[in-house]
Amino acid sequence: MRVPIIAGNWKMNNIISQSLLLIDNIKEHSLNKEVEAVVCVPFTNLNEVKKAIEGTDIKLGAQNMHWENSGAYTGEISPLMLKEIGVDYCIIGHSERRQYFGETDEMVNKKVKSALKHNIKPIVCVGETLEERESAKEEEVVKEQVLKALEGIDKEYIKDIVIAYEPIWAIGTGKTASSDDANQMCGFIREIIGNKYDKEAKDNIRIQYGGSVKPNTIKELMAKEEIDGALVGGASLVAEDFVALVNY
Ligand code: PGA
Repeated sequence: MRVPIIAGNWKMNNIISQSLLLIDNIKEHSLNKEVEAVVCVPFTNLNEVKKAIEGTDIKLGAQNMHWENSGAYTGEISPLMLKEIGVDYCIIGHSERRQYFGETDEMVNKKVKSALKHNIKPIVCVGETLEERESAKEEEVVKEQVLKALEGIDKEYIKDIVIAYEPIWAIGTGKTASSDDANQMCGFIREIIGNKYDKEAKDNIRIQYGGSVKPNTIKELMAKEEIDGALVGGASLVAEDFVALVNY
C-alpha cells in the first residue's frame, strides 16, 4: 500500500513570521490522516517551522542539500545539519536547481545517496521541457533522469524514495499536464523502476505529479492509478489551498 503524499514546496518564499502564520492557519483545520502532508521550507525557517508543527502529523522537508557531511563548500547546507533539525524529506534536483544552479544528474545522484544514508527521504524531481515534449522526447529524457538519479542505489531504499514528475512547462505557469498525460508518465516511471529492480520495488515506489496543481485539479489527479501524490508550489503558500490539497 502506497501512502499518498502531498508536499508543499514553498521555494524562496516566506520569512519566518510569514511561515509561522501559514503553519498556524493550516493548524486551524484538520488534515486527512491517511495522507502524508509535508512542508518543504527555506533553510532559515526549518528550525522554527519544526517547532511550530510539533504535535501535528505534518512532516518537515528541505528544498536542497549538499552531499558531503561538512567541508569547504561556502553557502551549502549538509545532511547532518538538516538531520539535526529533524528534517524528514528533502527535495532533490528540482528543475529550478537544474536550470538556474547547474545541477546535473550526477550531483542529483550524489545527493540522493547521501540523503538516504542520513535517513532523509529524497523527493527526486524529474521532468521534460516543452521543447522536449514537442519533439516527443519526454520519455527518453525522464528515463535518463530517473536512471541516473538512482544509479548505485539498492532496492531496500526504494520505499524511502519519492519521485516527483514535474514537466517544466507546467511549473508555475498555470498549465497542468492533463491527468491522463501525468498518469501515463508516472506509469512509465513505475515501469522503469520495475525493470531496474523488481515488482515489489515497482509497487512500492511513490510517484508524485507536480506543476500548477491546485485544489480544483487535485482530485482528478489523485484518482489516477499511478499518481501517489503531488508536489505543489504556488498553492502550498495559501493555508486553505494546502489543506484542500491534503484533504482532496
Ligand atoms: P507550482 O510549482 O505548483 O507553482 O507549479 C511546483 C513545483 O515547482 O514544485
